[in-house]
Amino acid sequence: SKGGFEHFMMKEIYDQPQAIRDTLLRRLDNNRMIHLDDIKLTKEDLEAITKMYVVACGTASHAGLVGKYAIEKLAKIPVEVDIASEFRYSDPFIDEHTLLIVVSQSGETADTLAAMKLAKSKGARVLAITNVVGSSVAREAHDVFYTWAGPEIAVASTKAYTAQMIAFYMIALDFAYKKGTVTLERYHELIDRIEALAPLVEKILENKEAIKTIAEDIKDTSSAFYLGRGIDYTTAREAALKLKEISYLYTEAFAAGELKHGPIALIDQGTPVLCVVTQKALEEKMISNIKEVKARGAFVIAVTKEGHSEVGKVADDIIYIPETEDLLMPVLSVIPTQLIAYYVSIARGNDVDKPRNLAKSVTVE
Ligand code: F6R
Repeated sequence: SKGGFEHFMMKEIYDQPQAIRDTLLRRLDNNRMIHLDDIKLTKEDLEAITKMYVVACGTASHAGLVGKYAIEKLAKIPVEVDIASEFRYSDPFIDEHTLLIVVSQSGETADTLAAMKLAKSKGARVLAITNVVGSSVAREAHDVFYTWAGPEIAVASTKAYTAQMIAFYMIALDFAYKKGTVTLERYHELIDRIEALAPLVEKILENKEAIKTIAEDIKDTSSAFYLGRGIDYTTAREAALKLKEISYLYTEAFAAGELKHGPIALIDQGTPVLCVVTQKALEEKMISNIKEVKARGAFVIAVTKEGHSEVGKVADDIIYIPETEDLLMPVLSVIPTQLIAYYVSIARGNDVDKPRNLAKSVTVE
């Protein structure tokens, strides 16, 4: 049921705080240590792993990009992210020291399954992050992490994405602790911060009327661009996909530093440019990029942390979100972009839960 909401997508956006809590808290013991019961990788197994791939499609691959940041930063293992339809037809460098992590909400995506089978045939260990118990992806994997987001009905993925990011943070922390690359103090600090994301998401949702107004501002455009740097570029990519699939607007995300190398040619009077600015070390650079696109007529909507008034001064519209560790910001920054996609879709009279030409689970190539 839609639980009192008009559409499944909005219900699922509102399910996100619970999805975060369920995915995290049900795996913490009394000492707040993480237990990944369906992952049998030991300390020795992890020490033998020299390389990881994360392979998935669409939104799940964006969660993989966040996962790369988390695993490399915390567990110090190099990670490559690829989309399943490319990976399966490439000649990936895989051996018995490779861990392949696949991410699939449905657990039935054809290309993702094929990628797993290829990696297994070359001796890799395969860990699946999936939302569906007993799905094909879960059955094919050596190790499984179930996201406890509950059934996702809307074609556009929201709560599964959030839960996948939480899964990656937990896997990264668990691996890091086993490998000795984080202190116990830092481990607990991060667990506390992950838990604290749930009420922060609730806070962003309270602001939904203001976000709706911003969506009204861009509903009649023909295209929209998203900019970010570092982990914010990942949010930009996910946000662009979300708006594209349910509004049918032409959208694209750019790494802000690439603007001058081509994309800035697209910016015209009134072009909406949504900028994600949450990373301390990259804020100045993003402010320069905002000025550059504004000088070409862009209408800039910025998503940034509360209190970052420098960003507020240069943007046309601003969405403030609460602050947490830079590494965890993608869980918060994506929420307003989901709401924007939802409201633009509705304003354009689209079937938000069942967008044209798309299926919830892509079981054919
Ligand atoms: C976008 C979306 C798709 C899926 C992709 C993978 O909102 O839902 O991009 O993320 O088709 O699906 P799963 O995760 O089921 O493998």
